[in-house]
Amino acid sequence: MPDLQGDDPRYAETLDANFDGVTPENEMKWDTVEPQQGVFNFGPADTIVNYALQHGMSVHGHNLVWNQQLPTWLTSGTWSKDQLEQILQQHIEAEVTHFRGRVEEWDVINEPFNNDGTLQSNIWSNVIGPDYIPLALEWAHDADPTAKLFINDYNIDWAGPKEEAMLALAAQLKSEGVPLDGIGMEEHLSLNWAPSLAQLEQAMQSYAALGLDVEVTEADVDTTGYSGAAAQSQQAEIFGRLATACRAESACIRFSVWGVSDAVSWLGSAAAALPFDQNYQAKPAWAAILAGLDEPQSALQEGSTGEP
Ligand code: G3I
Repeated sequence: MPDLQGDDPRYAETLDANFDGVTPENEMKWDTVEPQQGVFNFGPADTIVNYALQHGMSVHGHNLVWNQQLPTWLTSGTWSKDQLEQILQQHIEAEVTHFRGRVEEWDVINEPFNNDGTLQSNIWSNVIGPDYIPLALEWAHDADPTAKLFINDYNIDWAGPKEEAMLALAAQLKSEGVPLDGIGMEEHLSLNWAPSLAQLEQAMQSYAALGLDVEVTEADVDTTGYSGAAAQSQQAEIFGRLATACRAESACIRFSVWGVSDAVSWLGSAAAALPFDQNYQAKPAWAAILAGLDEPQSALQEGSTGEP
């Protein structure tokens, strides 16, 4: 979530008028939060969290353990298993404790699997082994027992090896009593790549059947290569599918898009991937999301005028 206090007031206006939750896009990641070992920088994330709480929004924390956006001191070091466990524990304890009572839920583990369902080879799995997952969840739970803890990934929304791997991992963690509360389904989609409504509903039901919550955490629909009303309408249909699936599954407790408008999307404005365009005007996708979630369309009116 960049530019909260940047030079375009339409960003915050659109956020305030249309959303009731935020997820910091980069500001809670390792390279920002612990740029040197044991030296913590919570400033950028605090700005967002404080803004959100002052404006009546809840915060989804993103993320504690990933293979990307790691500081050089961490990736270039040579660590024993014990050392790396200690580094990870300290990081999680410090970050979750800092935001205790302000951040309701965390992506504790981000993107642990390859698309073939094998565990991704990264610093955590290579040095600590697969146990880095339950350990991280336990440490996060110790630091804030009331926070909901998630594993977040993509391509886990249709019956295939990655969804199977996520279900198997989640079932194992639940059976061992590891504090896992939910699965985040990212949903970075495109006009050519999107699960069907049936696939989405089936995936959500499978996670819910394990006693887990589900969230759509990072939705966007890349329209690169297409333009005009037909593209917007196709995009709206896909966003609407996501929202409809979430609304239909009682375990689906949150629906997030990855950025406020095309002006600030990680995909660039030309991808036109978000429900608000680069001028912060609502697209058909926004109405489709509200309809899918069964939300009043009044939010759309406010958002489309840019008035909070
Ligand atoms: O902050 C530096 C800036 O100082 C520098 O001048 C600039 C030059 O490139 O880079 C800036 O850092 C960039 C950072 O975003 C902040 O803008 C990084 O290069 C860039 O790689 C980073 O991209 C982020 C990406 O994760 C990293 O993999 C995206 O903004 C962010 O949207 C994206 O989010 C991920 C989720 O965390 C996990 N799921 C997938 C999703 C999309 O890839």
